[in-house]
Amino acid sequence: MKLVFATNNEHKLDEIRHILDSSIRIQSLTEIGCMEDIPETANTLEGNAQLKANYIHEKYNLDCFADDTGLEIEALGGKPGVFSARYAGPGHNHQKNMDKVLVELGGEINRKAQFRTVIALILDGKKYSFEGIVEGKILTEKHGDKGFGYDPIFQPDGFNVSFAEMDLKDKNEISHRGKAVRKLVDFLKNYNKS
Ligand code: IMP
Repeated sequence: MKLVFATNNEHKLDEIRHILDSSIRIQSLTEIGCMEDIPETANTLEGNAQLKANYIHEKYNLDCFADDTGLEIEALGGKPGVFSARYAGPGHNHQKNMDKVLVELGGEINRKAQFRTVIALILDGKKYSFEGIVEGKILTEKHGDKGFGYDPIFQPDGFNVSFAEMDLKDKNEISHRGKAVRKLVDFLKNYNKS
């Protein structure tokens, strides 16, 4: 089975190739010759993952999947959510995005948050979706320098360190993306072409 993963993020490609056996070959966007920016204009994670998967399926007629992730903070009504990557606006980067969250939360007592990943799969013309969630809280300041994105300010439930203080392997075992990817992989391993 050949499947396009609608990304060029080497880290994500490695992660999934690592879990899958060789009967399922994952191709990146570059490998199928897709060089354009795929629109991510939906206002939900589900919508954006679906948009990206639909784009590849319609344009290249290939089986494919796409993911979208957001940090959802309860006291901010679920923000930054689908806007996580560009939360601080023009000139955004991970530091500015985290600073904006810390300022907006201020001294708020309720610091509950979750990372949520949605994967949209199109296989033999049918659509499937997989979700992974990790619950935790937003710290009052940044801790650690591993990982990326909001990792320094997110502490998963059951741990007393931030994601940015954890080894990648330990993070993957409990992370939103790890959970969603494992659901996808289980589905693909059991998928029976009729
Ligand atoms: P993407 O959909 O995987 O590109 O993720 C969108 C944004 O969510 C990223 O730009 C990060 O800001 C944030 N994000 C996604 N996954 C993680 C993570 O594992 N740790 C911290 N931030 C993340």
